[in-house]
Amino acid sequence: MHMKVQVTVPATTANLGPGFDCLGLALGLTNTVTFTAVDATTATTSITITGEGANHLPRDGSNLVLRAAEVVFDGVGERPSTLHIHQHNNIPVGSGLGSSAAAVLGGMLAANGLLGSPLSQEDVLHLAIDMEGHPDNVAPALYGGLVLSVRSHDNWHIEAIAIPPLQVVYVLPDFDFPTAAARAALPTHVPLADAVFNAGRVGLLVRALTAGDFAALATAMQDRLHQPYRIPLVPGLAQALQAAQAAGAASAAISGAGPSVVAFAATGHEKIVTAVTAVFAEAGLHSRAWILPVAQHGAEVCFV
Ligand code: HSE
Repeated sequence: MHMKVQVTVPATTANLGPGFDCLGLALGLTNTVTFTAVDATTATTSITITGEGANHLPRDGSNLVLRAAEVVFDGVGERPSTLHIHQHNNIPVGSGLGSSAAAVLGGMLAANGLLGSPLSQEDVLHLAIDMEGHPDNVAPALYGGLVLSVRSHDNWHIEAIAIPPLQVVYVLPDFDFPTAAARAALPTHVPLADAVFNAGRVGLLVRALTAGDFAALATAMQDRLHQPYRIPLVPGLAQALQAAQAAGAASAAISGAGPSVVAFAATGHEKIVTAVTAVFAEAGLHSRAWILPVAQHGAEVCFV
């Protein structure tokens, strides 16, 4: 068994445009999880947290990093007697930027690393998808870049798609919009025309991103499967998406399940930030913004 493992996991923007529950992009903002195993006779676990969420994330058995680690310890049938977990978070919590996927993967990869890596990367991916309930954050967080995840019978077909470097604007309004509430807003059935609308755009989006074709993104990023149902639930969101495009973004969409905005642009990112934050301010919401590169590499496990 290793004594100390550090795992770095990138943020991800899921539901990329029309890619509801299947297409996600890793971004250059990371969380770090460090597991230290100590030989001791009494079995205890302690958790410290710095950075985003430090003042409200739990330090007990309900902590998501610990719960994810327990899945691996239980599955493998081995665990350290005494474990110290330290989380340093740069990814804002509940933000549409994959903070829970980063916690799940961080916990699972660190636990697997401590045990000498009995599980393959694919085993960990499957456990993480099961725990998250959808693949579009954990798959790009694990592999980096643009990743398409397709369920095929009992398995997952995962495609990591190479794209040229790109900067995105990400704006997070201070509005509580948990993924569970965002999922509850969705219908169980959609009109055939909406399915056709999205199917064509997923193909167009993959082509546009691989070719760096910003002109095609305005159409390619449109969606009718989740955004029409979620946008009205966040104050100012509809106007914020319009403001991003008016300020020069090639396209703008909800990031993940929201409440945040992701916008693509070749240039003029600061101007888009100013426009979007001003609209949220008019709606009474303070917001924070990041300009982030695509993360070409996914999660990294390092023995320290
Ligand atoms: N595909 C997921 C959803 C992403 O929309 O619920 C949320 O993390």
